[in-house]
Formats: sequence, C-alpha cells, structure tokens
Amino acid sequence: MNILTFDSDEKLNEAAANIIIGQIQTTPRAVLGLATGGTPVGIYKEVVRDFQRGMFSFRNVTTFNLDEYVNLPIDHPESYHSYMNTHLFNHIDLPASQCHIPDGNASDTAAECRRYDESIELSGQIDLQLLGLGHNGHIGFNEPAHALIKGTHVVDLAEETLEANARFFDSIDDVPKQALTMGVGTILKAKKILLVVKGADKADIVHRALKGPITTDCPASLLQTHPNLIVLLDSTAAGKL
Ligand code: GLP
Repeated sequence: MNILTFDSDEKLNEAAANIIIGQIQTTPRAVLGLATGGTPVGIYKEVVRDFQRGMFSFRNVTTFNLDEYVNLPIDHPESYHSYMNTHLFNHIDLPASQCHIPDGNASDTAAECRRYDESIELSGQIDLQLLGLGHNGHIGFNEPAHALIKGTHVVDLAEETLEANARFFDSIDDVPKQALTMGVGTILKAKKILLVVKGADKADIVHRALKGPITTDCPASLLQTHPNLIVLLDSTAAGKL
C-alpha cells in the first residue's frame, strides 16, 4: 500500500488526475472503474482540463461506474448518470457506447446486475479503479455487513449513508433507499486501486480502513489485501494515521 498525503486540495486533485491520465497514456485501451460523490469532483475537473489541452484521448477507453441509485430517473440531477455527464462525460471524447453505469431503473434488477457483471468480464480486467470512502467504511455502495457480495447487486443503503447523501437532495426522505453497486469481489479484481479521501470527518474511518482489522464491518479494510493500492489523502483525512 502506498499512502500519499497532501496539504492542499489542488495538489491532491492534480496527483489523482495524473494517475488516471498516466494510465490512459500508457494503456490507450484502458478500462477505468469510476466513482461518484463529492470527493472526485475536483479530480474530474483536473482530468477535463488536461484533456482540453490535448494531452490524451478517451477514444479507446472503457469505463464502468461503481454504482447507481434504484428508481431515480437517470435525468434526475442527483442520479450518478447525471453526475458523470456533468463532471466528466460531457467534456471528453469518450464514446457513449464505452461508458457503463448500472441501470437503477431496470424492471428486473437481478438481470441488470448479471448483465453489468458480464460487460465487465467482457472488457477484460479493470486497469484502474477509482474509489472514495463512505463514513461507515463503504466502498461503492458496499455497506458494512456480516458478509459481502462478490458481484453487482442491489443494496439497502445504511442509515448513515442516507444521512451523508441527504445533502444532495431536498430532504433525507428524498434519498433513494436502495442502489445497485459493483461488488467488492469485482473491485478487488482491479489491477490497480486508487483510493482518495478528503476531510477531517473521514480521519477515523481512514484509520480503521487502512490500519484496523480486515473485516466486513468495514468493507474498505479489505483493500489492505490488494497488491496495488494507492491511497491519496488530504492532511485532515490522514490526521489519525
Ligand atoms: C457515496 C458513493 C461512494 C462514495 C462515498 C463517499 O455515496 N456511493 O462511491 O465514495 O459515498 O462520498 P463523498 O466523496 O461524497 O464523501
């Protein structure tokens, strides 16, 4: 595990963007696993800026997002489809047929989960998986549980997650209660994982995830077993290490 700490948001975003861009430059047909949430916004902004400078192309890249809410219309401003369009896809040359996000509005969610896993399998292996960290240790939407699920599945969001994501909606009652998420088995199969965490409110969970016991009570702790994990932290998130 390689942990790097940054004293400014700009430097952290730049470092994360450089890892993503470096992956595309060395592997033009890269398969990227992408994340949403507050954390990656500045990273995507940096990636878009360098793309607009003509430094690289997404033409041959394939992307798979970690998750999507269940039964939230895809054109809802807080759907992860809208998020990805707003922060990344609308600004780059990635063909729409090469970006994948689970369909949270599928009438048969089990079939959609199987289809999503098959698409990931067909693309080969995820070269680089970008991850944020939930306050309760979730990755994607894999919530703390007695057992974790390998592939894409429907998950009931934890109360803490609903509370954390209420800031994006008018009220907590508007936060969808379920999501489709890539499983931890798929996440851990990525060749390289880039975990990015910001903020003093994540210092305790960063410590549990990276230094605590490996337990399904803290899904991110499983990342300790990954042979190629890079962790980028701001100095406040690193405060308890
Ligand atoms: C969200 C997402 C995760 C994200 C996490 C932290 O709900 N499903 O992929 O990493 O929670 O989000 P944030 O970066 O906004 O703190």
